[in-house]
Amino acid sequence: MKKSLILVGTQWGDEGKGKIVDFYSKKFDAVCRFQGGHNAGHTIYKEDEKFVLHLIPSGVFYDHVSCFIGQGVILSIDSLLEEIKQLEEKGIELEGKLRISRYCSLLLPLHAKIDQLREDNKNSIGTTRRGIGPAYEDKTARRSIKAFDLEDKDLLEKKLRSLVEYYNFQIKNIHDSEPFSYDDVYKDLIESYKQASKYFGDVTDTLENIYDEGGNILYEGAQGTLLDVDYGTYPYVTSSNTLATSVGIGSGFPKSIYSDVLGIAKAYTTRVGAGPFPTELFCETGERIAKLGHEFGATTGRPRRCGWLDLLALKKAVFTNSVTDICLTKLDIMDEFNSIEVCIDYQGNQPVYKTFEGWQSSTEGITEFKNLPLKAQEYINFIEDFVGCNISIVSTGPSREE
Ligand code: IMP
Repeated sequence: MKKSLILVGTQWGDEGKGKIVDFYSKKFDAVCRFQGGHNAGHTIYKEDEKFVLHLIPSGVFYDHVSCFIGQGVILSIDSLLEEIKQLEEKGIELEGKLRISRYCSLLLPLHAKIDQLREDNKNSIGTTRRGIGPAYEDKTARRSIKAFDLEDKDLLEKKLRSLVEYYNFQIKNIHDSEPFSYDDVYKDLIESYKQASKYFGDVTDTLENIYDEGGNILYEGAQGTLLDVDYGTYPYVTSSNTLATSVGIGSGFPKSIYSDVLGIAKAYTTRVGAGPFPTELFCETGERIAKLGHEFGATTGRPRRCGWLDLLALKKAVFTNSVTDICLTKLDIMDEFNSIEVCIDYQGNQPVYKTFEGWQSSTEGITEFKNLPLKAQEYINFIEDFVGCNISIVSTGPSREE
């Protein structure tokens, strides 16, 4: 294995990346987020305690791991502070362990408000309502408040005033809603920054030092391949590039691109929010998968849409991300089914399925491939052959050991 690894979702997010990053982190010196924001929700179980991380890299539970948030991440300082507080209450100290790029674009409460107002309109796409889209719009439109702007009060005041005016115009005139007070936005931001300023610094140089000294870095992707703003099911996508190939820009460390890529795929498929989902199940089987798989959004609590695994989509995701290995998660959720289907072709818009006989015995906690039921082995071997990529990890339960 090369010394660094990029871990990405190969479907519409929620593939179980949090657990796998957490599992892998112990072997790495650093873990770095490189895109997305607090729309992500990575669930980790540690000694029966459940943690949901939104911004902080999932490597945070290991003492030896340094955590980084790269410049490609849209940063809500308020959400960050809440997360830090929760972790510190559990005895996890972040100072000296977490470093955030000064080049991050900030997500402010006015982004969340405009996201919510738009979602309440008829053109809703089912966002997490956290303000991710508007914050990325500002970044591309060159009007973002960058974290480094907070170091220069005069510049900040000028930029922030014009940003508040920009949004207040829309809030009042398009949405007929209550505008923001510039003074309050400014005061709240300065207050939050006072608490968070110690975490900001240079991420590029620090990652380079770790790399040059022989350390290895894990790059933690958020959301999934089919939510990528360029590659995904546009316009039903998130606003960042979720593909592994965006790691160089998003981490700020060019050598990050010379990494292996681990693609995480669930043994079935889920999606939250609106948009196409050809293998979606609208019957009792879909509801059963949702119930057994606890398929409710980690960030919003919304029920996830469920369906069978789409091997054409997975094969394309392997190609698009240059995936070197696949990790198949939640195999145990399929344990009880009489039959399991996978999409192997399309006729027009209709998926063509191959049906597997279910193994109907528990795989929970099995840690050796040879100990899996033969029918489960067949299912895994077929996926490997079809997509042309090695499945090097199979996850059979929520805890680290499984
Ligand atoms: P946004 O990222 O909040 O703008 O939402 C855009 C789309 O991406 C919606 O369909 C969301 O449900 C989806 N999305 C955003 N973050 C996640 C995630 O972490 N997991 C799964 N879906 C997500």
